[in-house]
Amino acid sequence: MRINGQSARTIWPEPARDAVHIIDQRALPHRLVFERLGAVEAVYIAIRDMWVRGAPLIGATAAYGVALQTNQDVSDAALERCAQRLASARPTAVNLAWAVQRMRRRLLACPLAQRRQAAWDEADAIAEADVHTNEAIGRHGLALLRELAARKSGPLQVLTHCNAGWLATVDWGTATSPIYQAHAAGLALHVWVDETRPRNQGASLTAWELGHEGVPHTVIADNAGGHLMQRGQVDVVIVGCDRVSAGGDVCNKIGTYLKALAAHDNGVPFYVAMPTSTLDPTLADGAAIPIEERSAREVTHVSGRAVDGSLVEVQLVPDGTVAANPAFDVTPARLVSGLITEHGVVAANAAALRDLWLLNAKENP
Ligand code: MRU
Repeated sequence: MRINGQSARTIWPEPARDAVHIIDQRALPHRLVFERLGAVEAVYIAIRDMWVRGAPLIGATAAYGVALQTNQDVSDAALERCAQRLASARPTAVNLAWAVQRMRRRLLACPLAQRRQAAWDEADAIAEADVHTNEAIGRHGLALLRELAARKSGPLQVLTHCNAGWLATVDWGTATSPIYQAHAAGLALHVWVDETRPRNQGASLTAWELGHEGVPHTVIADNAGGHLMQRGQVDVVIVGCDRVSAGGDVCNKIGTYLKALAAHDNGVPFYVAMPTSTLDPTLADGAAIPIEERSAREVTHVSGRAVDGSLVEVQLVPDGTVAANPAFDVTPARLVSGLITEHGVVAANAAALRDLWLLNAKENP
């Protein structure tokens, strides 16, 4: 997608294959900062501390982390250590473990002398596939948005939570891909952007990227969504996901579940954009999904730009206040209208997801 009219991606390797470049998302929307990551540990820290975030992007970043490892030591032991380290950076989004496992399997099956080349090729393939997957999700989602738009007059009102945009992927985004494609196709739409406390990925990242694409949008406090749905001001909710169980339960950014409940109560369709790499067929239901508990400081403090232009962090709560910070929640499958995947829109149930998994395995052996 575009930054100030220029095409951009969130991650790209250096031509000499000795580093990978990323956007440091902690500085957005106020500053555009690029970072060069030249070692596995730097990649680990960038994922853990959310310089990069979003399920598909942390997967692609970790894949390049494994590629960086092969510049130093291609032995089985070094690759296993590296895979373990990177996979442990964040627990909830399954794309991280998925990408690391794919790299690990590919490289361990490869002669030592070919491992470096194979690693960079495989990481590139993971990044490229992410772009194609998200573009396809956008096409299927666009058909859905067209159908919904045909039933009403005026711009289609879409609500989204967190950032499942291009910043959360290599390009396009998942939940935003149908939005970008609809906007490009001339479909009138407006996006309600949940601010997404505590880290405010909606207010700082989704608003920033929609702005650069010229998509009309309004940031709302997280608590406003239910009210807007009750008043008929939301036609559809589209969110991303970090892990989907075999039965269709959807784990996504904290607060997603409340939006799904409100959508259900008000008859608003609730769709989840899901690359097949976010499906975890090993978990029957969402109760077993590990939920990342992040630092309480993300709740007790907030960062932003001061009037003098400096970036500051301020404290919100009385000194010594205890805070809890579960970063994700699980929306039961029964509240999900459908999963928008690269293979089409599928039902959030075990039978449909089994078929999807088999189809995906057939197309990507
Ligand atoms: O903690 P984050 O910012 O990594 O969480 C991101 C989300 O929850 C996204 O909705 C999800 O990863 C889907 S991104 C296409």
